[in-house]
Amino acid sequence: MFAPGSTAVSYDRASFIEWYRRNRRRSTALFDLLDPGAYYERPIALRNPIVFYEGHLPAFSANTLLRRGLGHAGVDDRLDVLFARGIDPEDESSAKPRVAAPWPAREDVLAYARAADRRILDALGREDLDRPDRPVLRRAEGVYALLEHEAMHQETLLYMWHQLAHDRKRRPADGSDRPVAGGEPPAARTVRVPAGRARLGAEPDAAFGWDNEFPAWTAEVAAFDIDVYNVTNRDYLAFVEAGGYGNRSLWSDEGWQWVQQARVAHPRFWAPRGDGWVWRGMFEDVPLPPAWPVYVSYAEASAYAAWKGRRLPTEAEYHRAAYGDPSGAERRQPWGDAPADPSRGNFDFMHWDPVPVGSYPAGASAWGVHDLVGNGWEWTATVFDGFPGFEPMASYPEYSADFFDGRHYVMKGASPATARELVRRSLRNWFRATYPYVYAGFRTVGD
Ligand code: AVJ
Ligand code: FE
Repeated sequence: MFAPGSTAVSYDRASFIEWYRRNRRRSTALFDLLDPGAYYERPIALRNPIVFYEGHLPAFSANTLLRRGLGHAGVDDRLDVLFARGIDPEDESSAKPRVAAPWPAREDVLAYARAADRRILDALGREDLDRPDRPVLRRAEGVYALLEHEAMHQETLLYMWHQLAHDRKRRPADGSDRPVAGGEPPAARTVRVPAGRARLGAEPDAAFGWDNEFPAWTAEVAAFDIDVYNVTNRDYLAFVEAGGYGNRSLWSDEGWQWVQQARVAHPRFWAPRGDGWVWRGMFEDVPLPPAWPVYVSYAEASAYAAWKGRRLPTEAEYHRAAYGDPSGAERRQPWGDAPADPSRGNFDFMHWDPVPVGSYPAGASAWGVHDLVGNGWEWTATVFDGFPGFEPMASYPEYSADFFDGRHYVMKGASPATARELVRRSLRNWFRATYPYVYAGFRTVGD
């Protein structure tokens, strides 16, 4: 692509601006779902209060593009720092407010965000965004990073909102808030994936990838069999009723310590009601939908797999199941090379809650495995680490490396709250084993 009077550039300025505006509109719409009284609440004790995130989105963009990238002044010396980074603390006591002064008033946060938007849109409109002399802007890395960062945090916002009491949220007026409960789940099946290769990561010519997606490498994967559908609430209920949460032998030391100390006896998204269970939906509680994928932590997923005499797939096995095909070639997406659109899976904010497993036959992989992308991230057994040759990225060197501590696990796929721009084969997500708040489920494999 050629901008008037310049040499070739690797990016399209107009689509950056359009994406930035689309992001900002969606973030605003998400904050508009809240009762203003919830603004200083901390729906997840391990995370900052809601106010932080409304400042964090513009602060990250300003710090990345204006300061680190272009070497300009930031937007506001105090607020750029206050809102710079989120937290993933060891325990809830270290998550107590880091700031001595109270958080700013909402109108001040909104004024800060408006000022940042003006500066960033101005820079996107006229600065040179691909500058080999500035590592943060090499191939416009910093711009992609700020755009994808905002999209990722829209998912953070939604799973935080999910934990708020229903009377703290306003239902959207368009009727999209009605859960699609469905009926009985399809019969559970497995399919055999033969031995073969999986190409993990992003190739050097990718427009953008986070540091943990590089360099690409090829894994040799032995044959395995894998569940065609995610483990459902119905499947998982049998584990709960069989006393799985009280069976020490099914849990890792860390998982057992967590269920004991936090008195965990069921998935975070369930609540006991009468002699049954409800699903704690975004806007209402519904009788537990048997055909929805269960959302659980890694620790709960692996305990269930152990109870079944099975295990979680490795990251490479997930890749084989999702992107491999019998000819030995690999697809860009499970369904082929066509773009991610709403016929392929439950992602890109089409629903506030899951839908029944198997709802998207047009999204199945070459082996007939359903819902590998969408309807909930999928836990893998792989500890999050850099691929061999990993290098921290210039625009955000702490992004991945801060989490290479042996205690985070890779999640693949996408959830209902994952933007379509993030639906790509090489994207890797990660959380601690005992983090139960994300829209994440799993399937099991056997040898
Ligand atoms: C990649 C989703 C684990 O939410 O902690 C946002 C993304 N990093 N800001 C997170 C992220 C910094 C990150 N995850
Ligand atoms: Fe962030």
